[in-house]
Amino acid sequence: MAVSFDFRQRLGSGYFGEVWRAVETGLGHEVALKCIPPDKIVNQGNFFQEAQTLKASEHANIVRVHDTGTLADGRIYVSMEFLRRGSVEDEARGAPLPLSRAKRLMVDVLRALTHAHDQQIVHRDIKPANILIGDAGEGKLSDFGLALPDVTGLNMAQVKQYQYVLHLAPEVRRIQDYTPLSDIYACGVTLFRLVNGDNAVPAIPPAQAHQLARRGEFPPRDGYRDFVPQALKRMINMAMSVDPASRHQSAEAMRHALEQQSLCVDWVETQTAGRCTWTGHGQDGLHYEVTKRQQPDRRWTVLTRKGPTLNALRRMGALCSTNMRKPDADKRARRILQDFTKGRA
Ligand SMILES: Nc1ncnc2c1ncn2[C@@H]1O[C@H](COP(=O)(O)OP(=O)(O)OP(=O)(O)O)[C@@H](O)[C@H]1O
Ligand SMILES: [Mg+2]
Repeated sequence: MAVSFDFRQRLGSGYFGEVWRAVETGLGHEVALKCIPPDKIVNQGNFFQEAQTLKASEHANIVRVHDTGTLADGRIYVSMEFLRRGSVEDEARGAPLPLSRAKRLMVDVLRALTHAHDQQIVHRDIKPANILIGDAGEGKLSDFGLALPDVTGLNMAQVKQYQYVLHLAPEVRRIQDYTPLSDIYACGVTLFRLVNGDNAVPAIPPAQAHQLARRGEFPPRDGYRDFVPQALKRMINMAMSVDPASRHQSAEAMRHALEQQSLCVDWVETQTAGRCTWTGHGQDGLHYEVTKRQQPDRRWTVLTRKGPTLNALRRMGALCSTNMRKPDADKRARRILQDFTKGRA
């Protein structure tokens, strides 16, 4: 008998169709069901073959695929484990994630990728919406690019899924051009978005974004938040290299490079006119605060505090550098943030 599902709740939709929370009518278990119109799938043979490989391959950081087939209305479905915490995109909502959280999630993704690449499976669509979150907060890679539009046929000026272009490695022009190294590029862009938030990625037309990406100017390499350590920036920029040969040469190599990053403080940035405050929570249990603000005489001040609790922080006197020009204040605040983040101060 054909499998059928009770559709319960639409969880989201993307370029390839919709995802539903559903219950399989036979066994009664809850699943997430991805439903794809068949015309979205360029190579169906390849699609089902990769789905079978995924089904057979279990990994703690890969969303479990139960089954795949055709629904009564002709759409193709992939049923997979339902993850109630949703995706990293749902968690971040376009804001920067705490550095340690971004690191953990990307380490998990890179473990999953190593496993996939070992089996000759290229993901092709790594982005925050395709990283789901397990019950223990772990990252689980989903939506292996089973269904992909043929890039040759894409009219960049008309691509609706702006994000699709954003993560597309510059060398990919046809479906055959996707390689493990184009996945590394997409991991770089994903990490860039997670640590900086989506404001760091200007919303420009896809065609222009694609052109800039080919010159290594998109996402803009000067868009990093002030607290992102230089070494982490270098690492992310390396993953986003235009030349595939200059990237980390495997998911394993990128994971090692990421694991070596020391990120001692997680920051929250709040900006108002003439003032920017960073509040940090350190792995040492201490709280940190750095404020850059403009004085009535239009010169700038940078205030720094460090203390056992947030309340104590407010009562403590701040280390103060006053009377600076804006560029000097910017530089000073950045240096303090960098030192704190690396656990140097
Ligand atoms: N297995 C799952 N468990 C729970 N929620 C899921 C699951 N799979 C997907 N979702 C939810 O559905 C949303 C949309 O997923 P979908 O894959 O349709 O869109 P997308 O990733 O934005 O685009 P694309 O079509 O490129 O994959 C996800 O962001 C997530 O919130
Ligand atoms: Mg998806």
